[in-house]
Amino acid sequence: MNLDAQHPLATGLTADSRLIRAYQGTRPDATPVWFMRQAGRSLPEYRSLRVGTRMLDACLDPEMASEITLQPVRRHNVDAGILFSDIVIPLKLVGVDVEIVAGTGPVLGTAVRTAKDVAQLIELDPAVLDETLAPITAAVARTVAELGSTPLIGFAGAPFTLAAYLVEGGPSKDHIHARTLMHADPDAWAALMDWTAEVTGRFLRAQVLAGASAAQLFDSWAGALSLADYTRFVAPASTAAIAHVRDLTYDEGAAGTDVAHTDADDADAASVRRNVPVVHFGVGTGELLKEMHAVGADVVGVDYRVPLDEANRRLGGLVPVQGNVDPALLAAPWPVLEAHVLDVLERGRTAPSHVLNLGHGVPPMTDPNVLTRLVAFVHEVTAVFADATGSVPEAPVSAPSAS
Ligand code: CP3
Repeated sequence: MNLDAQHPLATGLTADSRLIRAYQGTRPDATPVWFMRQAGRSLPEYRSLRVGTRMLDACLDPEMASEITLQPVRRHNVDAGILFSDIVIPLKLVGVDVEIVAGTGPVLGTAVRTAKDVAQLIELDPAVLDETLAPITAAVARTVAELGSTPLIGFAGAPFTLAAYLVEGGPSKDHIHARTLMHADPDAWAALMDWTAEVTGRFLRAQVLAGASAAQLFDSWAGALSLADYTRFVAPASTAAIAHVRDLTYDEGAAGTDVAHTDADDADAASVRRNVPVVHFGVGTGELLKEMHAVGADVVGVDYRVPLDEANRRLGGLVPVQGNVDPALLAAPWPVLEAHVLDVLERGRTAPSHVLNLGHGVPPMTDPNVLTRLVAFVHEVTAVFADATGSVPEAPVSAPSAS
C-alpha cells in the first residue's frame, strides 16, 4: 500500500535524509547517528518532565510523549528521533494488566504459563487497537510536524521478546518458562506468538501510517534462543509482525512531477517505488543475524558483542548494519571512547552502509554531553568517507563472499 501523499517520505521531506539513505544501502555525506534510549533518564529535561507521571501514562499523553521524543534531537543533533513509547504499550491497550516498574521493567499482573492462560489472553481482540492507539498516532503526528526533515523511527517489540515478558510475568535472565512452553506445548506457543505478532504489528504499522519514516523491531531477548528454536518457534511470528509494515511504499521523485513534467511517461520514469525501511535488532543475537535479516528486515542492528565486519561477513556482505558502540564506554575517558568509535566506523565501512548506534540502550547515568560530542565527532570524521563531490561510493569498500 502506498503511504498517504502527506507522509514525510512521500512528500520527500525525509526521503533524502542520511538515515533513510543509509537504510537503503547507500552512503550519505556523513554516517548517520542515533542512540537507542536517547529519550530518557540520561536527560535532566526528561527527568523533570516525568516527575509525578507514570511511565506508561507518559507514553499515552501525546503532548508529553512528543516533547520527550524531541528532547534528544534538539540537544544532540542526532539524525533521527525515535518515538518515546514502550514495547508493552500495545499489550496494555488491548487490555493486558502490565505496568513498568522503575529500575525493573515491565511487570505483568499475572503470568501466561499454560494453554488455558494463552486461550484467555488471546480472547482480547487486537482490533481494539484501531481505536485505542489514537494517543500514539497523535504523538507521532505532533512529533513529525516538529521534526521536519529529520526522520522519526517507529518501533515495536518482536513477538518473542513480548511473549518472554508475558510468560515470565516480568523481566528474566534466561526466559526459562517461555523456552519451556514452546517445547512443552507448541500449539499454545504458536497461538500466543500469532496473537502477539498481530498486536505488535498493528502498533508498528499505525506509527508508520501516522508519519514515522522507518520501523524498528526490537527482539531484545532473542539471544536466549538456540538457532534451531529461533527458526522453528520465533521466526514465523517475527515475519508476521514485520508483514504489517512490509507492504508500505512511497514513490520517490513523484512529488512535484506534475509541475516538472507534462508527459505522463516521463513522470513515471522519474519516480522510483520504495518501501519503508525496516530494522531488526536483538541483544546477544550474533548467531542469529542471518535469520533475523531473513524475516523481512532491510537493516540489521548489531549489539556490541560482534564486531561489524564480522556481522557483515555473517550477513553475506549485502545488508546495511546499525550499531554497535559499547554503551559501557560512554563513561570511559574520551580518548578511549574515541578510539573505540573509530574502530566501529572502520569495521562498519565493510558493510554496504552503516548507521552508528549503541550496541544497546543509553545507560541512565550517561553524561548527555558525551552523546552530543559523539554525534559531532561521527559526522566530522565520516564526512571524509564520501568523495569530494559528496557523492556516494559505488560499492562497499570490500564485500566478503557469503559465508
Ligand atoms: O529509544 C528511545 O529513546 C525510545 C524509547 C524506548 C523506551 N523503551 C522507553 C523507556 C524504547 C525504544 C523502548 C523499547 C523497549 N522497552 C525495549 C527494547 C529495547 C531494549 O532496550 O532492549 C524493551 C526490552 C523494553 C522494556 C522495558 N521498558 C525495559 C527493560 C525498561 C527499563 C526498566 C528500567 O527502569 O531500567 C523499560 C522502561 C523504559 N522504557 C524507560 C524508558 C525511557 C525507563 C522508564 C523510566 O524513566 O523510569
